Amino acid sequence: MQTENELLTLCSAAEAADFGALRVEPEGLPPLAVFFDDGEYFVTDDTCSHGEASLSEGMVEGGKVECPWHSGKFCLRTGAAESFPAETPVRVYPAILRDGHVCIRRPE
Ligand code: FES
Repeated sequence: MQTENELLTLCSAAEAADFGALRVEPEGLPPLAVFFDDGEYFVTDDTCSHGEASLSEGMVEGGKVECPWHSGKFCLRTGAAESFPAETPVRVYPAILRDGHVCIRRPE
């Protein structure tokens, strides 16, 4: 069972809401993208599964992010690849709001 101490703070919720997407580089994890879409926060791996593009630089709309390089789309909630050439999902991390910050549980 995980404890409160295992929460990993990624960024300010207000900052993520202002920008819509932010890249963060937590120690010991791959770069992550924090998204704000339609009032909800989402956290995924930042690196596209098709190439090396940063998904936090993509366009966010309707619960999806469109990769800035080849326009593959990923579901922000599940990480599923939803349009070619993206075929492999990206990892998602449940976003937790705590004291004005977006956090995740540190993955094992
Ligand atoms: S690098 Fe993202 S779709 Fe190609």
